[in-house]
Amino acid sequence: MHTRRLIIAAMLGAVAAAPAMAQDTMKVGLILPMTGQQQSTGKQIEAAVRLYMAQNGDTPTGKRIEILLRDDAGVADTTKRLAQELIVKDKVIALAGFGLTPLAMATAPLATQAKVPLIVMAAATSTITAASPYVVRTSQVLPQPAAAMAKWAVDNGIKSAVTLVADYGPGIDAETWFTKGMKDGGGEVTAQLRTPLMAPDFAPVLQRAADAKPQALFAFVPSGQGAALAKQFAERGLDKSGIRFIATGDVTDDDQLNGMGNAMLDVVTAGFYSASHQSELNRKFVAAFKVANPSMRPNFMAVAGYDGMALLYSALRKTKGNTDGTALVEAMKGMSWESPRGPMMIDPETRDVVHNIYIRKVERVNGELFNTEFATIPMVKDPAKAAAKP
Ligand code: DHB
Repeated sequence: MHTRRLIIAAMLGAVAAAPAMAQDTMKVGLILPMTGQQQSTGKQIEAAVRLYMAQNGDTPTGKRIEILLRDDAGVADTTKRLAQELIVKDKVIALAGFGLTPLAMATAPLATQAKVPLIVMAAATSTITAASPYVVRTSQVLPQPAAAMAKWAVDNGIKSAVTLVADYGPGIDAETWFTKGMKDGGGEVTAQLRTPLMAPDFAPVLQRAADAKPQALFAFVPSGQGAALAKQFAERGLDKSGIRFIATGDVTDDDQLNGMGNAMLDVVTAGFYSASHQSELNRKFVAAFKVANPSMRPNFMAVAGYDGMALLYSALRKTKGNTDGTALVEAMKGMSWESPRGPMMIDPETRDVVHNIYIRKVERVNGELFNTEFATIPMVKDPAKAAAKP
């Protein structure tokens, strides 16, 4: 009898101890495309999140942060189902990741319902932050580089251009804001070409762009598709056609740029991050990232993941460890810090990222291709949100 009572007491103790242990960790759901077409985004962000935690410890406020990594393969229904499980079963204090716009859009209503912060580390359509008051973004919005690219184009004598974008949210944002910028500067866009997000074939649109004979071809494709676009561009001889190739930084992504070859030399892009950004912090970030991931070079996705963790750590410190979702989002509003990309801030009104946009040129430096920054537009807010204001 005595022994039995002891066993029962021990069992009850174990049951009681389990939630106590669970309370000692703060779980963060990291949902990324680790497989499928967008897997480079998942791999880059995961590597950067792990690096941030290795460098800064996993207990920003005493309790241990535990990352629950889930692979949605870039499928929105899966993202939503995984987010639901992470909220209900795992009681995560925040959701993070979101490799594509449709994945963030599908999950935003769950964040609102559960009052859980949703940190967007990749998706870049302007409207995502409006989909839930719990969305906070550390990646970018496409109107930022697209408007900057158009301004650079007209300032540099380009009067006519053709646009080529992936046919979904960020592509339409890029097309809209590049076209508007060209018009505002006295230039024009003579054709707007689009390719499907999934399994695009760039040959027919590149042929149409070549036939239109504009001064420049402006492109946006999501991270990971740039290499295929560059290959087709070179194969069709467009690099020798006299049509200037300009793009958002997504196309000359640091993850893939090295494999793109000489056809991309001198291509001018607008973007928020280059692995060759000249700052002490970035040199350290790139070096540490390469030590931890010897076959990789960090791209803009990695930096957005790294900054997403910096934002969460700072917010937790500001709330003194209070994990209430509303309190965390409030703490994130207006936060500013130095990132490997340069200075950045979370706009307190829109919860969206404010950062420098750099104009860059592809160059070979010590045998590697880099986006060399040569001009800076400081602390750019989302121009689409500014335009929507009454
Ligand atoms: C999105 C995805 C990308 O890989 C990128 O470079 C930009 C935007 C998106 O789906 O929003």
